[in-house]
Amino acid sequence: MSGTLKNHHANRQMEAWLNSLSGQITEALATGRQFAKRHPFAAIRKVLFYGMGGSAIGGDVLRAVMADRSGVLFSVYRQGRWSRWADEDTLVIFSSYSGNTWEMIDVFHKAARSRVRLLVVTSGGRLAEIAQAANVPCLKIPSGMPPRCALGYLTFSLLPVMEKVGGFKIPAGELKELLAVLQKAPKALAKRLAVKLKDRSIHLYTVSGFMEPAAARWRAEIAENAKMLASHHLLPEMFHNEIEGWQYPRWAVKRSAAVFLTDKEDAPVLRRKIRAAMQLIHKAGALAVEVPSKGKSRLARLFSLISVGDWTSYELALRNGADPVAIPAISAIKRVS
Ligand code: PA5
Repeated sequence: MSGTLKNHHANRQMEAWLNSLSGQITEALATGRQFAKRHPFAAIRKVLFYGMGGSAIGGDVLRAVMADRSGVLFSVYRQGRWSRWADEDTLVIFSSYSGNTWEMIDVFHKAARSRVRLLVVTSGGRLAEIAQAANVPCLKIPSGMPPRCALGYLTFSLLPVMEKVGGFKIPAGELKELLAVLQKAPKALAKRLAVKLKDRSIHLYTVSGFMEPAAARWRAEIAENAKMLASHHLLPEMFHNEIEGWQYPRWAVKRSAAVFLTDKEDAPVLRRKIRAAMQLIHKAGALAVEVPSKGKSRLARLFSLISVGDWTSYELALRNGADPVAIPAISAIKRVS
């Protein structure tokens, strides 16, 4: 297949996967509810979520939900080292879409020797096999897509488990609103943003708290889909250090963009500080743009930002002539043992 034809095929595939997010959520909630009914999760006080890349971001979302609605401690570990604090009150989740990520397999073996409760979410691979052999509950999700495109499956199949562990229930109306927000892909906004952000290095900022996962997701999607470097940092911390960095090298600053992912619940003082920071960044010769969340509930607003980021990364890939599906560098590093 010629390069352009190959990209054309990859582009169509990526569009279909991006469009599948709301369908994934509906399906995953049904799977997760059945799974949660079959497995007791009493007396869990801590959740330790292991995952890498596209399989970790769902952990960030669930951490935000748990912090918002329960007193259960929730940590996301993006590494293969076993944690000393996991004990009998801890549920340890291993999230790996392929089921073949070595960090997950490595740490699973260590965890299986301890007395903690384990749970695996995967589409198959080695992790599914070793979970079955060790009698560990395994939430199986459909295979055949890039892990980062399976965000709906990876996150929402676990939500009913988290509801049980955390002793809360997301109202049906909120889930309905979330699906409604995702039904309409933000293609026009994504195109406008991609025109502005093309050929720039991108720095994402969001207020610490519920919307945090959006900035991490944008950074990862821009790298994996558009093959561009991006960074993310949190507010107000950024006002105490990184804001000074918007000066040198001047040529780099002029070719950079600051993207502020904002939310209606951002404190008024933070909104004023964001305005001030945007002015400083603009004065330094860079681009500063704001992308506000949309929707009523926090979950819908978070996913509105995630969706704009996913589509913007796709639009950037188109403009870069990059294949949004292929990840040759990630695969090359995975082959290094
Ligand atoms: O999106 C991707 O392809 C990566 O970020 C993967 O998620 C990451 O490499 C981990 O692989 P897996 O999700 O299969 O565990």
